[in-house]
Amino acid sequence: MPKLIVVNRAGEEQAVEGDAGLSVMEVIRDNGFDELLALCGGCCSCATCHVYVDEDFAASLPPMSDDENDLLDSSDHRNSSSRLSCQVVLTDALDGLRVTIAPED
Ligand code: FES
Repeated sequence: MPKLIVVNRAGEEQAVEGDAGLSVMEVIRDNGFDELLALCGGCCSCATCHVYVDEDFAASLPPMSDDENDLLDSSDHRNSSSRLSCQVVLTDALDGLRVTIAPED
């Protein structure tokens, strides 16, 4: 099972595990992080699953769709590491991925 390291808004880091094939959003949510609202349930229409992805993994991430890009543009907190966590599927290649939950918009 790939490991995911999650940093919450207080800066606290926790390692969790999730089944390959789940989205990063689902793994975060299923492990009880209530800061990640994920209001649309993963349909790429709310941007409340915004995270910053550790740059070491940038090359291993799936490409960003136009919809994801447009939604991230609606956030005041977007930076070069921003992704919507519902659009990143956890795979064995992403084992050890580290993400930080972005501030609330
Ligand atoms: S959960 Fe709504 S865009 Fe990701």
